[in-house]
Amino acid sequence: MNNKDWNIVGKNCLITGATSGIGKETALSLARMGANVIFTSRDEKNGEKTKMDIVNETKNSNVNYLICDLSSFRSIRELTEEFKKKYERLDVLINNAGVLPQEREVSKDGIELNFAVNFLAPFLLTKLLLPLLKQSSPSRVINVSSSMHTEGEIDFEDLESAKSFDKYKAYSQSKLALILFTKKLAKDLRGSGVTVNALHPGVVDTEMTMKNVRKMNPIASFFFKRTLISSKEGAETSVYLASSPLLVDVTGKYFVNKEINNAHASTEDTVLREKIWLVAEKYTRNFIDIIGN
Ligand SMILES: NC(=O)c1ccc[n+]([C@@H]2O[C@H](COP(=O)([O-])OP(=O)(O)OC[C@H]3O[C@@H](n4cnc5c(N)ncnc54)[C@H](OP(=O)(O)O)[C@@H]3O)[C@@H](O)[C@H]2O)c1
Repeated sequence: MNNKDWNIVGKNCLITGATSGIGKETALSLARMGANVIFTSRDEKNGEKTKMDIVNETKNSNVNYLICDLSSFRSIRELTEEFKKKYERLDVLINNAGVLPQEREVSKDGIELNFAVNFLAPFLLTKLLLPLLKQSSPSRVINVSSSMHTEGEIDFEDLESAKSFDKYKAYSQSKLALILFTKKLAKDLRGSGVTVNALHPGVVDTEMTMKNVRKMNPIASFFFKRTLISSKEGAETSVYLASSPLLVDVTGKYFVNKEINNAHASTEDTVLREKIWLVAEKYTRNFIDIIGN
């Protein structure tokens, strides 16, 4: 495929968690560029408000939302069924939604929340939408990870932090797992026209960050806040990965500041990639079986 063949205008872009922060700015930018934006919201009220905000600001009326709670496998499955009913193509899937809970919480399926929402949800959503992504190829999957994956380690003895919970450890593990998934899927999909990349958006002034800043002492919080970038800046790499014609054949990479960067060395470990993939398959198997992928 030639670079010039990728044009974001009229492309169906599904973005998870676009009701605030980086996701909302990603949706705004892509709508401004002329994409058909479909985003997920956990409830109608927030979905409707976000949709109106984006439509009013961009004058692009091709903005819609679907209800999904990514902490529920059932809800993810319903989202994919609804999406397939409503849309014939999926050109760009942006797995953006994420959590960094202060205490140990569990998903609707009883799974530790970081592991469930930051890793298993994008794993299942992407797998269920893969037939449509392949059918729509060239198409792109973009996984919003974090530089904190470098602090992560996959603790196969305690994947869900049941023995002891450290919020940053659980978050970092989930973001590392997401990159391992990205790299394995990219390899498996070589030649299919579906690319898969991951990114770190920067350290961004969003609610997720502010929840942690509020726990800092006033001096640390004052200095830390000065280092934060805006949500709009935080969305730039996601938007670049979705829209740039230069990236047609780029897959399995990790981006920071719109440039290819080295992810942690452990993400090159193909045995580790395989192992975490099998874990995710085991967790999500029932739902994948039902849908027949
Ligand atoms: N902020 C940073 O500095 C930073 C740094 C590195 C990586 N990231 C990553 O960037 C992504 C976006 O984060 P953000 O900073 O923009 O956070 P945010 O402002 O807290 O937004 C998170 C989004 O995810 C949605 N979400 C959360 N739990 C969900 C669930 N169970 N089901 C469906 N949607 C859910 C939220 O929806 P509701 O409105 O319904 O809550 C919201 O739209 C995340 O993956 C995060 O890990 C952020």
